[in-house]
Amino acid sequence: MRRVVLVCIVRYSLAMDPQNNISVLFLGDVIGKPGRRVIKQYLAEHAPKAHLIIANAENAAHGFGTTESNLQELRDAGVQAFTGGNHTFDRKEIFEFIDQQQNVIRPANYPDGTPGQGACIVELEDGVKVGMINLLGRVFMEPLESPFLVAEKLIEKMSEETNIIIVDMHAEATAEKIALGLYLDGRVSAVVGTHTHVQTADERILPGGTAFLTDAGCCGPIDGVIGMDKAAVFRRMVKQLPSRFEVAEGPAMVNGVLFEIDNVTGKAKSIRRIQFKEEVERADQSASADASELSQIV
Ligand SMILES: [Fe+2]
Ligand SMILES: [Fe+2]
Repeated sequence: MRRVVLVCIVRYSLAMDPQNNISVLFLGDVIGKPGRRVIKQYLAEHAPKAHLIIANAENAAHGFGTTESNLQELRDAGVQAFTGGNHTFDRKEIFEFIDQQQNVIRPANYPDGTPGQGACIVELEDGVKVGMINLLGRVFMEPLESPFLVAEKLIEKMSEETNIIIVDMHAEATAEKIALGLYLDGRVSAVVGTHTHVQTADERILPGGTAFLTDAGCCGPIDGVIGMDKAAVFRRMVKQLPSRFEVAEGPAMVNGVLFEIDNVTGKAKSIRRIQFKEEVERADQSASADASELSQIV
């Protein structure tokens, strides 16, 4: 069997509800400082209670990669575990710390020997264990191992320890993410997509009991182009000239999804999209009205 990594154990304290459900809040790609800032506010003041909070951190360091201090800042805000994606290794310093981080995973279908781990188990109070698996899609992306087959092997091993498994499928193509959700239906608690930075509205519980959302969206600037400053994007897209992307300024938003899972069967009981926007100060009153209406969509 190829790599099977089920070693990160972290204990968190929060009593289970009377129905023996656990709630997992998953936050989409965190983009730079605006993303870290809005998560801090959201988790402190607005977020629903959750036994486990996971965030995709591949863009936490100014849009590209993750630093140790980014992870600490997000942990201080309440995030307990982290997934990654195609930008996980953008910052060279990650090679110094990823193997020491117990609740940080990167895509599992990278080649054998890649630093870090592609799956882990988070142990909650009362011994409830939540497995996490991170995968990268291959459509319009890198030619890695099959996320479908890698996931199957990891689930087979992980199922010996827990029925509760959350999969972050970091992929470009909606079809590939939907296919993975259907392929794993009944074998995991939830499949959530990341990477496009745009939240989809197709949340559902699949027939076998797996909660599914094609993309969670991002936690980052509202007015950029998937988080990046539009001027640099225009230079590249309109003029076809090279340009260095910078994280956009201005108000930010949180996008994510809340799962409620039966902690005995591992089946999803509910799935709810989350969207929260920072207060927006605009001269345009209609824009302000729109923003306040959208301030907390569930
Ligand atoms: Fe991303
Ligand atoms: Fe990505």
